[in-house]
Amino acid sequence: MNAASDSLIRLDGVTKTFGSTTALKDASLQVARGEIVVLLGLSGSGKSTLLRHLDGLEVPTAGSVQVLGEQVPALKGRALRALRSRVGFIFQQFELVPSLTVLENVLTGSLSTVRGPRLGLWGYSRAAKLRALEHLDRVGLLDRAYQRSDTLSGGQQQRVAIARALMQKPDILLADEPVASLDPESSDQVMALIREIAADEGLTVVCSLHQVDLAISWADRIVGLRHGEVVLDTPTTALTKAEVMEIYGRVATSTAEIRAVQVELTETAVDVAQVDREAAVAASAAVSRASVS
Ligand SMILES: Nc1ncnc2c1ncn2[C@@H]1O[C@H](COP(=O)(O)OP(=O)(O)OP(=O)(O)O)[C@@H](O)[C@H]1O
Ligand SMILES: [Mg+2]
Repeated sequence: MNAASDSLIRLDGVTKTFGSTTALKDASLQVARGEIVVLLGLSGSGKSTLLRHLDGLEVPTAGSVQVLGEQVPALKGRALRALRSRVGFIFQQFELVPSLTVLENVLTGSLSTVRGPRLGLWGYSRAAKLRALEHLDRVGLLDRAYQRSDTLSGGQQQRVAIARALMQKPDILLADEPVASLDPESSDQVMALIREIAADEGLTVVCSLHQVDLAISWADRIVGLRHGEVVLDTPTTALTKAEVMEIYGRVATSTAEIRAVQVELTETAVDVAQVDREAAVAASAAVSRASVS
């Protein structure tokens, strides 16, 4: 079996423009079944746009997007819904229905297989309700099933959103900055939970993040985006210090990180030449830009 045929996700030369803005530029990426990939990059680098192409929320201006063997931009109607039912999506703002209970929110995850609108719990089968309760148990919130979802903490709401995504029995889980609104402790819990569930269910995960340190500790592989271009694609196992510095240099996500890279490069024994000069140059350029603005 070659790598290409085992890829659940395959982008080839994807460019996406919005008017005069180029959100993605000739981006290519393959993700194999079971991989846990982080998209890392500054605000505006194209992370959300890339994720949105994977379930057909955006159509590329050029290039091809293949997911689960389907050419996504060609899908319409029922075929597009069928693809989306196999791709779970969680968001920074959780996007629960605030006035519904936790259990009802989780059940809405099964709507792609239920016809017509549902009112309360009545429209769902007993089997669906049992499954929803199992998923709530899985994310540690079984005791909150009948509570209104807007009374939960942010971390709890994101765990409900994960349970809702699981109702679809997805093959792929996409997460767009899933912990950007959470405190560090809740972030760690949510990220750990996503990994644990992905391993148990054999999910393939593509998750956008801002934080380089979190990406390195959490992902199997990091794909760095800058101005819509893929500027980095590296496994996270056994990274040397120089390689970690290179990641910061290429996709540092805050001015503080860029400064830290500079300090590190000058203060430690890491040989700049060995670190990839391009990364060092990118870091200094970014510092100059940041100090100008
Ligand atoms: N629907 C749209 N209309 C116009 N411009 C858009 C649209 N969606 C994205 N863009 C632009 O495309 C670029 C990439 O945006 P995108 O949201 O993908 O970045 P991001 O990496 O997700 O940023 P953030 O970290 O802030 O979420 C930005 O310049 C953005 O303004
Ligand atoms: Mg985004």
